[in-house]
Amino acid sequence: MQAAKPFIVGIGGTTRANSTSDRLVRAVLAATEREGAATQMFGGAEIAALPYYAPEKPDRTPGQTALVEAVRRADGLVIGTPGYHGGVSGLVKNAIDLLEDLRGGARVYLDGRPVGLVVTAGGWQACGVILSSLRDIVHALRGWPTPTGIAINSHDDSPFLADGDLKPGNVRDMVGVMARQVLSRIQTPTATS
Ligand SMILES: Cc1cc2nc3c(=O)[nH]c(=O)nc-3n(C[C@H](O)[C@H](O)[C@H](O)COP(=O)(O)O)c2cc1C
Repeated sequence: MQAAKPFIVGIGGTTRANSTSDRLVRAVLAATEREGAATQMFGGAEIAALPYYAPEKPDRTPGQTALVEAVRRADGLVIGTPGYHGGVSGLVKNAIDLLEDLRGGARVYLDGRPVGLVVTAGGWQACGVILSSLRDIVHALRGWPTPTGIAINSHDDSPFLADGDLKPGNVRDMVGVMARQVLSRIQTPTATS
């Protein structure tokens, strides 16, 4: 019998056309697909359609349910955010806050899952600070940030070619490294409380 493909979920980006954070998360997902994974992306458009997370409201839109159920099934994740005013963007944080729906059940939050993290910002200071902040968020959700994080200054030269592929170089190499780190750290679910 053929083993099931690892399932990797991407979350992130902005509503902006050619959002760099969205494209970089997709690039990591594509790199995992080349290594045999199946993927699902919740990019800027999808997460912008999510209502504000409200703990007292149990009703869920189809979009909210799709995200929660994909993360529940995920073997690994890739999360990408722009730096907005020194932090993770509200759009991305709202999607992450919805994962409160995974508080109960067999696999709590991101328990045991490897998570690749991507930050794009207009300055290097925000790149470092926000990558660190995103790691803290993933730790709070019991996930395992991969050793490699990707943080790029999007106001420098674009890492993308005109056709949308990544230019040969450091960013493309890091994308491949991150994809392999996510796939190589997939674990079986642990008992949680
Ligand atoms: C509302 C807003 C706030 C921003 N705040 C910061 C910031 O604090 N530090 C920084 O380096 N860049 C900041 N930027 C620049 C973005 O992080 C940068 O353009 C990023 O690449 C946008 O992501 P995107 O390409 O996925 O849309 C901000 C941009 C916007 C629109």
